[in-house]
Amino acid sequence: MKTHLTILTGASRGMGLAMAEQLIAAGHHLICISRNTNTALDTLAKQHGTSIGQWSFDLADGTPACEQLRAWLTSRDANEFASVTLINNAAVLPNISPLREASASDIALTLRVGLESVLQLTAAFLGATAAWSGERKLLNISSGNGRRAMASQSIYSAVKAGMDHYTRCVAEEEKLVLNGAKVCSLAPGIIDTDMQTHIRSTDPTKFPSHQAFVEYKRDGHLLTPEAGAARVLAYLARADFGVNPVADVRDA
Ligand SMILES: NC(=O)c1ccc[n+]([C@@H]2O[C@H](COP(=O)([O-])OP(=O)(O)OC[C@H]3O[C@@H](n4cnc5c(N)ncnc54)[C@H](OP(=O)(O)O)[C@@H]3O)[C@@H](O)[C@H]2O)c1
Repeated sequence: MKTHLTILTGASRGMGLAMAEQLIAAGHHLICISRNTNTALDTLAKQHGTSIGQWSFDLADGTPACEQLRAWLTSRDANEFASVTLINNAAVLPNISPLREASASDIALTLRVGLESVLQLTAAFLGATAAWSGERKLLNISSGNGRRAMASQSIYSAVKAGMDHYTRCVAEEEKLVLNGAKVCSLAPGIIDTDMQTHIRSTDPTKFPSHQAFVEYKRDGHLLTPEAGAARVLAYLARADFGVNPVADVRDA
């Protein structure tokens, strides 16, 4: 029986790690891309009889990862997998401050990891799997920040707004080809990861919304990484995945 292949960035920790664990448990073959690898995922894959490749790349320069992905996909049989999915999950939150106080290097890093490498990996994925017979899906992990203006979040918000809009364009492109990929830029809700710790540790005088994030945590509004991952993967499995190229896990 044919199996499913998922390429997942940022699987070393946070929601990406939880998604990797759940995909392995569901029998998916995984290619994971982040700076660090996670040995527990190798063990889990062995237990479930699936394969996993953990590729160590810094997506601040996405070109090497993109080239390896293109070469690896091109080397596979186009009929090997029942489905192939790219989940662009890795991202960086810069220092949270008004843009006038941001450093050029912080702006560049956030855009490169969160948007430039995402476009590069998407291009490699869509190009190399264009003739594949299985179902093809692209899931970009976005954020409400890309859709709602918030002071001191201009850099991260620009990344996610860019992600949303390029996904809309790719949706139009993929409608025009045979077995085009179903694509979606999905806001995942608020998840209790390092990213939220970073937000709460920001100097409140630099971030007008600081107290709201402290209260989300205090009042139990954060999803665990496992629950967040489960909601995202349930959305990915929906029959109408890709009908809306920009969506929120909380959409009915
Ligand atoms: N947490 C939330 O409340 C929330 C809300 C809305 C949207 N999101 C989005 O959900 C996704 C996952 O967020 P998270 O909270 O799970 O984040 P996280 O805990 O900070 O994990 C980020 C992941 O990205 C990888 N990464 C970071 N910099 C990288 C680099 N230079 N090169 C390669 N990989 C890199 C990290 O791996 P390494 O460190 O090993 O490289 C890690 O696996 C992100 O796209 C985020 O924007 C999160």
